[in-house]
Amino acid sequence: MNDITYLTKNYDKKIEKIKALGADVNFLFITDVHSGLNRQSSQNSKYRKPEDFELSENAIEAMRYVAERCDIDFVLSGGDVGNDYAPTPELVRKEISDFYDNLYSLPVPVHCCVGNHDDAVGWSAEIGRTVKNYAISPSEMHALCMRNNPTDENYYYFDHEKSGLRFVILNIADHPYIPDENGNYTHGWGVDFSEKQLLWLDNEALVTDKPCVILCHMPISCKGIFGCGGYPYGFKEKNDFPRGDEIMKCIRKHGNVCMWLAGHVHADNLRYGDGDLEGVLTVTTDGSFLDPQMQPLPEREFGEETETVFDVFSIKDNYLYITRFGAGLDRQANLCHTARVMPMQMVWRAGKLMHNA
Ligand SMILES: [Fe+2]
Repeated sequence: MNDITYLTKNYDKKIEKIKALGADVNFLFITDVHSGLNRQSSQNSKYRKPEDFELSENAIEAMRYVAERCDIDFVLSGGDVGNDYAPTPELVRKEISDFYDNLYSLPVPVHCCVGNHDDAVGWSAEIGRTVKNYAISPSEMHALCMRNNPTDENYYYFDHEKSGLRFVILNIADHPYIPDENGNYTHGWGVDFSEKQLLWLDNEALVTDKPCVILCHMPISCKGIFGCGGYPYGFKEKNDFPRGDEIMKCIRKHGNVCMWLAGHVHADNLRYGDGDLEGVLTVTTDGSFLDPQMQPLPEREFGEETETVFDVFSIKDNYLYITRFGAGLDRQANLCHTARVMPMQMVWRAGKLMHNA
């Protein structure tokens, strides 16, 4: 096993802080690992040293270090985990399956959503290689990363008893996967959200008194989210989430979504929505992938603690504490809809605070 002290040497204080919170739920979140991409691109680069790459197995071992030392309930993965730019179908499959085998070896349950890079169709179509040889089908994806999904779909939900929260895992790679006459999929880089998934969200997943946390690779709205557009400006005017308006209306109707958790943008954002998303906190986190060209902040360095990024999310009543391991900062926020759905805890808490004043 590799020595990961360079990553974990300053973790213990943060772990003590998480323990002291006594939260109702603690979960690890890692996203946009793009495992193996830097190893490939650093080998023949004029601008990079050949040793300028990170290993996803080291990031996962760093997560194991945390999971073995404090009360972690489960792991969430935000998608875009493998290297769809790998030169052969075998390598594409090896990067993604090695990553998931490592991730699922952590000592707590693991839940994953699918990203837009994960099926390897976009890049394969763009450079004209035979897409069908590289493409990872929905059923193949299901076997790779839906190991705790009780359904046959690549979306599902699970309830966490102690916190009373429901976690809803959505799939933005919900393509029809209809091959053309050559057996190739033609959806390219596009993202998709089927009507079937929308009906399931509306008629099943959000039909609950529990406050809901949504995990999805992409933020539902680009508004005010840095990283949706290209750097350095970073913003995108038009929302491109498939069926985005219908999903936001569905969220408004049910009124119980407290947080939308996403990756994809490779940047840290905390933003409360407006309109149909009023009171919904969108959280995105920086990618674990160290992108030396595109990402000036937070500062990252191969072989240092800042090589990777993952968080522990702790929720206690309606308070969210995000503890950062690696590059970047800790964050805190209120979960508004959690307060609305769980008024009794709030009354109790307010009374306790007044009593102690
Ligand atoms: Fe992505």
